[in-house]
Amino acid sequence: MLLSALAEIVGPRHVRNDRDALEQFGVDRSSGWRPAPTCVVLPGSTAEVQRIVQLAREQRIALVPSGGRTGLSGGAVARNGELVVALERMDRLIDFDPVARSLTVQAGMITARVQEHASAQGFHYGVDFASAGSSHIGGNVATNAGGTRVIRYGMTRDQVLGLQVVDGNGEVLELNRGLIKNNSGPDFRHLFIGSEGILGIVTEVTLRLQRQPPMVRVMLLGVPDCASIMQVLQVFSRDIELAAFEFFADNALRKVLRHTDASAPLEGTHAFYCLLEIEADDTDRALALFEHCLAQGWVRDGVLSQSLGQARALWRLREDISETLSRWHPYKNDISVAISRMPAFIEQVEALVRREYAAMEVVWYGHIGDGNLHLNILKPDGMAAAQFTARCAGATRSIATLLGEFGGSISAEHGVGLLKKDYLCCTRSAGELQLLRRVKDVFDPLGIMNPGKVID
Ligand code: MLT
Ligand code: ZN
Repeated sequence: MLLSALAEIVGPRHVRNDRDALEQFGVDRSSGWRPAPTCVVLPGSTAEVQRIVQLAREQRIALVPSGGRTGLSGGAVARNGELVVALERMDRLIDFDPVARSLTVQAGMITARVQEHASAQGFHYGVDFASAGSSHIGGNVATNAGGTRVIRYGMTRDQVLGLQVVDGNGEVLELNRGLIKNNSGPDFRHLFIGSEGILGIVTEVTLRLQRQPPMVRVMLLGVPDCASIMQVLQVFSRDIELAAFEFFADNALRKVLRHTDASAPLEGTHAFYCLLEIEADDTDRALALFEHCLAQGWVRDGVLSQSLGQARALWRLREDISETLSRWHPYKNDISVAISRMPAFIEQVEALVRREYAAMEVVWYGHIGDGNLHLNILKPDGMAAAQFTARCAGATRSIATLLGEFGGSISAEHGVGLLKKDYLCCTRSAGELQLLRRVKDVFDPLGIMNPGKVID
């Protein structure tokens, strides 16, 4: 009954309930969930998405929107007989406007293709991250994706000039229509950005484009401790427009070197490494700052890329960490505090991690230039998965409480999904969560849009 109704909307080829499809489309990159959707539907247009939502309303079927499924918090997991709405067929370029400097695309376009379309037109799309080759722009919007250039261009939210969504009422909403100036009341676009599919399904996006960046160079620095990282950040960001300021711990580097064909960037080992991307014109200034940091003891060694190939090789040391660690099915903490509070926060979180994860290997990395730390906990050999998850969940509660005290966030860029919703109350007030439930009721009164994610 459901299958034939869906087949009538999208055509029989685009409705799947074979085991492969259910397993593939029922999960994202977060570990530990058993996929159990009823079926997968692949619409080809906004009108078809709208008819699917209307059908789901009539039959009271829960929907899980699905993009590239590269999420790390379980936001695209279907484990309770839901209908997965996969947007991969909706990957068309709709419009390029050279005067407004914007690109309008369907939600299923892969992020790397958005970047390619922008450069083919002589512009630049500012959001980038390691999974850009598989994530979809609609998923980026739904999770307000961040990545490695936030310090320069901001989050996905900052790129969205217009949004088309089908909400849980089955209405197609055109939000902001690509305008730069629009003060005609509250802007619903921002409710949908980062809403992880609980209010509706993103179908089209109009994105702001940037001028193409000048030639860049990458600097990799060996740093003795976290406090020094913050000194280096302060010194460099005061004098130079940084395109990226990333960091990773030595155990992250060792694992990447062991499991990929990358080569060691520096001769010795250092507790941490900072990766800075700068404009080539700032090279002399950057070298002077490097010398200053060296004299202060904040930096012990460093290398500056001499070619595009070297810059890419240095970036791989940072970008390959997540994929390399996935073989340990790590428990992921993705946290942030205001940059000015970072030194004091790091001191306390380091002590907490030493105490709470005493017997476990913790891998630190992240986008420290914008206040975002990724703490990955690796399961010790021999520890049962359930015991590992329980231990990590307990520690996350302590980290969440500390974040609450520091005015930080329990999810900086990975979203809340299933993984972080129990901790949301530590960094969002009870009043805010109550309002969020009421907002969900307005856009999704039947509760069919990605139920169980973000809030109960
Ligand atoms: C990253 O910064 O590498 C991504 O957010 C993925 C991850 O944290 O594992
Ligand atoms: Zn990240």
